[in-house]
Amino acid sequence: MSERPNSPAARDIAYHLHPYTNARKHERDGPFILTEGKGVHVWDDQGNRYIEGLAGLWCTALGYGEERLIKAATDQLRKLAFTHSFAHKSHPSAIDLAEKLIELAPVPMSKVFFNNSGSEANDTAIKLVWYYNNARGRPEKKKIISRIKGYHGVTIASASLTGLPYNHQDFDLPIQNILHTGCPHHYRFAHDGEGEEDFASRLAAELEQTILDEGPETVAAFIGEPMMGAGGVIVPPKTYWDKIQPILRKHDILLIADEVICGFARTGNYWGSQTFGLKPDIMTMAKALSSAYVPISATLISEEIYAAVADNTEKIGTLGHGFTYSGHPVAAAVAAETLKIYEERDIVGHVRGIMDGFQAGLRRFADDPLVGEVRGVGLVGAAELVADKAQKTPFDPAGQVGGYFTARAQAHGLIVRNLGDTIAVCPPLIITAEQVEQVFEAFGRALADTRDWVMDEGLASVA
Ligand SMILES: Cc1ncc(COP(=O)(O)O)c(C=O)c1O
Repeated sequence: MSERPNSPAARDIAYHLHPYTNARKHERDGPFILTEGKGVHVWDDQGNRYIEGLAGLWCTALGYGEERLIKAATDQLRKLAFTHSFAHKSHPSAIDLAEKLIELAPVPMSKVFFNNSGSEANDTAIKLVWYYNNARGRPEKKKIISRIKGYHGVTIASASLTGLPYNHQDFDLPIQNILHTGCPHHYRFAHDGEGEEDFASRLAAELEQTILDEGPETVAAFIGEPMMGAGGVIVPPKTYWDKIQPILRKHDILLIADEVICGFARTGNYWGSQTFGLKPDIMTMAKALSSAYVPISATLISEEIYAAVADNTEKIGTLGHGFTYSGHPVAAAVAAETLKIYEERDIVGHVRGIMDGFQAGLRRFADDPLVGEVRGVGLVGAAELVADKAQKTPFDPAGQVGGYFTARAQAHGLIVRNLGDTIAVCPPLIITAEQVEQVFEAFGRALADTRDWVMDEGLASVA
């Protein structure tokens, strides 16, 4: 008899180390295997159908089985499966895509650098900021300020930017020159009786104090998601970005907008920077750039940054940065086609047409005794589950109740993601109003199951 496992689940346990997974729990519980997708739905290997309520990982904007993207990929594979972009080489798809992104940018941008993931896009941004300040003869201006609960990826620099404990713990991170400032979550971090605008003023004052304490001549850039995603879908308080940006300008600090989740209509405008009034010097994007059909990301830089970087490459002889797959032809072709589809189908208009219904759907759970806060913007939202609503007491241990909710949602045909005990919903942008209703019907059933279980287990005293 063979010793080798032969079911897909057993083989997965035997050979596959999963990202963001408790490996020992995985050995006990095994994988959840998805095998097919069409539109907003996916199917598991048992034939069960689900609404993909998190668009995969906030990314499958056009849903599954979009024939035009499949054709764009296969056409490009046939024509020219690969060429790189090093040493002056280029190809039509990368040229088209770069031109289109510069045209779409919400503020004047000069050049596009291609990478393969959001993490890499942010690493590139940081490296270019450092390179730029060296080029300008300011080698001491290197610190990057990020935010507690910000999410910017998992490579060594981008994980350092990320302001979540799991991404640092036992990885010996963050690296030097990365600082974290306050999280703009009013529900969790405002003082008693502090209004949204006062909270925003306090965060801005704290940021300025940090800059002054560190020395403005040492602070190079501030990075932020216009609206935080993986940290818990945190919509900034009113006036937050209006108050942060003048401080950055005053101290000659660049603003990097991480549009990896917010970009491409998610918040009801093409860019999160438009929804929240950011005027970035650098923008990073990934995920919906290709509707997640193939990995690709981009880092856009302003003319001022480009000019200094370009002069430095002339001095050194090259830009010593780039990935084998920077601007991969297949990825670039799919991304270029994705952007065409967004335009032709007026994806921003579609999102605007259904986002009020989506937000209202979520907000009908606001009074549930288990729900501390519902929040969101555009077609992304979350419900934070708490042990005591009046006191805003989180569950202890964190994530157990959220995990239960996610499992119950799945049993009711809905895939969502629990970020600890915050349940995030971020469906494909092509979702219809009727499907939004189905999402929240399943959500309500999962919430009722979770409430019963929490009471049975004595985890909270919910009425
Ligand atoms: C805002 C943001 N930035 C960066 C990243 C990292 O992207 P990736 O997982 O493609 O490296 C993510 C991933 O969720 C993200 O949400």
